[in-house]
Amino acid sequence: MYRFIAKTLLFLWEPEKAHHLVMNGLALILRVPGARNVMSSLFGVHDSRLHTELCGLTFKNPVGLAAGFDKDGKYAENMALLGFGFIEIGTITPRPQAGNPKPRLFRLVSDHALINRLGFNNEGVEMLKKRLVSMRKNGVIIGGNIGKNKDTPNEKAVDDYLICLKTLYPWVDYFAINVSSPNTPGLRALLEKEPLTELLSAIMSHSSALGTVKPVFLKISPDVDQTQLDDILEVVQKTGVHGIIATNTTIGRDGLTDRAHAHENGGLSGRPVKSLSTEIIRYLSHKTEGKLPIIGVGGIESPEDAIEKMYAGASLVQVYTGLVYAGPGLVKDINQRILAVRLSKNG
Ligand code: FNR
Repeated sequence: MYRFIAKTLLFLWEPEKAHHLVMNGLALILRVPGARNVMSSLFGVHDSRLHTELCGLTFKNPVGLAAGFDKDGKYAENMALLGFGFIEIGTITPRPQAGNPKPRLFRLVSDHALINRLGFNNEGVEMLKKRLVSMRKNGVIIGGNIGKNKDTPNEKAVDDYLICLKTLYPWVDYFAINVSSPNTPGLRALLEKEPLTELLSAIMSHSSALGTVKPVFLKISPDVDQTQLDDILEVVQKTGVHGIIATNTTIGRDGLTDRAHAHENGGLSGRPVKSLSTEIIRYLSHKTEGKLPIIGVGGIESPEDAIEKMYAGASLVQVYTGLVYAGPGLVKDINQRILAVRLSKNG
């Protein structure tokens, strides 16, 4: 139904407006008494055989909402009712910032893709903390995806990440360190061996001083070659970072058919990033003999795409652009397929 009715109507709106329209509409619907229960039973797959253990956390299912959808923790409570096992909030920065001028989000419909250059628009870490303190999590794992402000020079980037880490520490279940968004000038330079070692060492030593160990994942770019991946793995292993989220959006534009927006600057997500991210997951998993916890993200728009990422080595998967093209039922479809695969393996 989503594909034929809701999507047609929604795509009449400019993408950023459509996003807020949908989220505000969902919030309104959920105010109706009983609506939360109806939503949860419509979209959720409640089966303990979907439970997934990773890095000491129990995810009620392995399908998550990728970072960027809910940058400020405004929607997590409602999105949880759509059947997600985990929700990654952010990217959040220490101070609020407006992001890039609009328009900054584009649909490439024929490619089932988006290009965004939002530029970490967010209300800042203190505001997010306030929301998290009063959030009803309902058993959903919450990740905090953290970054640096645009006007913080890279030499001071560590301070920004540490501010976010310390402020959110009691309120999230895991952290994602974002050094891979293409829309903050210079951010990806932090993926180089030396700055990455400095950043991750600081994060890991502060994290262990803050109490209970919270898993830390590094979110990487798909625009890296094997040498860079080997360097990243070396730093991850040396600093004790728990796992990798692969991948963020790409700056590549190969194979696009859309004529209206393919030239826009920003990060490309959705179908065109699918195999890029899957191959990176496969490489990382192979290199670490399947021991490195990997969260797979990039171009998942069907249960088959999710299963493919899991066979490549991902323990958990996340979706964003696929939700825009396939609709919210995607989460349930993926969970049902994962359940079927698990049952057939056990049976
Ligand atoms: C993103 N993504 C993203 N990632 C991140 O770490 N921090 C962020 O703030 C954002 N913001 C963001 C905004 C928009 C509009 C999109 C489409 C994407 C990247 C996202 O989490 C994911 O890694 C990629 O989009 C690839 O997955 P999909 O979208 O192909 O499923």
